[in-house]
Amino acid sequence: MRVTVVGCGYLGAVHAAAMSHLGHDVLGIDTDTQRVAALAQGRVPFYEPGLPELLKAGVDAGRLRFTREPTAQEVAGADVHFIAVGTPQTSGSGEADLSQVRSALDMLVQHLDGRRRPLVVGKSTVPVGTAAGLADALAGRAHLVWNPEFLREGFAVHDTLHPDRIVYGLPDRPEQAQAAQSVLDEVYARILDEGAPRILTDYATAELVKTSANAFLAMKISFINAMASMCDATGGDVTVLARALGHDARIGARYLRAGVGFGGGCLPKDIRALGASASLLGVEPLAQLLAAVDTINRGQRDRVVRLAVECCGGSVEEAAVTVLGAAFKPDSDDLRDSPALEVADRLSQLGAAVTVHDPQAGEQVRRLHPGLAVAPDVWRALDGADLVVLGTEWRELTGLDPHRAARLVARPVIVDARNALDPTLWREAGWTYRGVGR
Ligand code: UGA
Repeated sequence: MRVTVVGCGYLGAVHAAAMSHLGHDVLGIDTDTQRVAALAQGRVPFYEPGLPELLKAGVDAGRLRFTREPTAQEVAGADVHFIAVGTPQTSGSGEADLSQVRSALDMLVQHLDGRRRPLVVGKSTVPVGTAAGLADALAGRAHLVWNPEFLREGFAVHDTLHPDRIVYGLPDRPEQAQAAQSVLDEVYARILDEGAPRILTDYATAELVKTSANAFLAMKISFINAMASMCDATGGDVTVLARALGHDARIGARYLRAGVGFGGGCLPKDIRALGASASLLGVEPLAQLLAAVDTINRGQRDRVVRLAVECCGGSVEEAAVTVLGAAFKPDSDDLRDSPALEVADRLSQLGAAVTVHDPQAGEQVRRLHPGLAVAPDVWRALDGADLVVLGTEWRELTGLDPHRAARLVARPVIVDARNALDPTLWREAGWTYRGVGR
């Protein structure tokens, strides 16, 4: 099928490459000149395992192209248009900024004459009610489906090609819904053949599935972080508690890692956008629940900063602090709302001389946070440190040899802000070890 993907950031670039992998002829459209130039040459402008190979294969096969400004013919000739633009948090409020979604739709509408009705497929995360408004704006020029995406950074290729479920939010009118469903079934034929569950529903439910999935994950993380505070207050160990809870299949073991809390471009802004929608719709208890999730999460960063200060005897002024990891999670170079980076910045503001090492995000940290020193490797980062903070649990960082590390630092004290190290091993190697709620 002929497909366009409007918006080639994280979601769109992965989606475009995945669609070409499924055999479709794909045109990626983005307003960012540099991003388009990189993608068109088969280069991924961010770190995502497996994506460079997929992108290059599509570009080399001639099935995957990128442009800043598509021609009218290119737009009008496509069978399916995916909208994959960003919906960041509006500054000064929790609401989602939908300006990119509106521009994407305007661009399409400009080129669609209504003679043949393609399918517009929304993948961006939007507040409930958005799709219904967009369907009106399309004014019969195209059918609209809301088809949220659930990919995780670091596993984006796998999650796109082997999703846990595919959700179609379909138009109300049965003949439109039928037409839209059969086109999307054709697009995803190979994924559906593999047995991915497909859920057919209305626009509102589809929009809510996406935001509530992220809200639920965020709630699990904040719940275990709140329990970590209970463990701190009582001498319990939250890692053992989480393991014991996780054996109950009704609870499940995942997203119960306590630590510095969640960050990134999705969970924090999505809980705020859902909270804003809930308030607007008068569903106050949900807004309050999500506000509590957010408060607990932000508190985790304060807590790690306090722990670091305490480990330096009440002040980090002039202390050499090494923060291992800067990305919001491992296997990603994404620094958006990264807890590790915020901790590094705040310790630096408190007067510490902070050195950061991250396996992939170092260059970005150097460019965007000139107040932080960036070490090219972990051993140089550790050299002479008064305190080490593990901020992101990259495998190469959690697998560090504590004996070798102890020989490099000035004082062997570590704050494990991800509860990712074995305290016994580190203590045996001479370290003072502090975790979160253990
Ligand atoms: C999240 C969702 O997991 C995806 O399903 C969703 O598609 C995506 O947002 C999105 O809306 O686009 P992602 O932002 O890539 O994906 O990150 P996660 O892997 O979910 O991790 C989020 C944060 O939670 C990270 O900072 C991570 O370190 C933290 N986390 C995760 C914990 O602190 N504890 C845990 O137990 C799990």
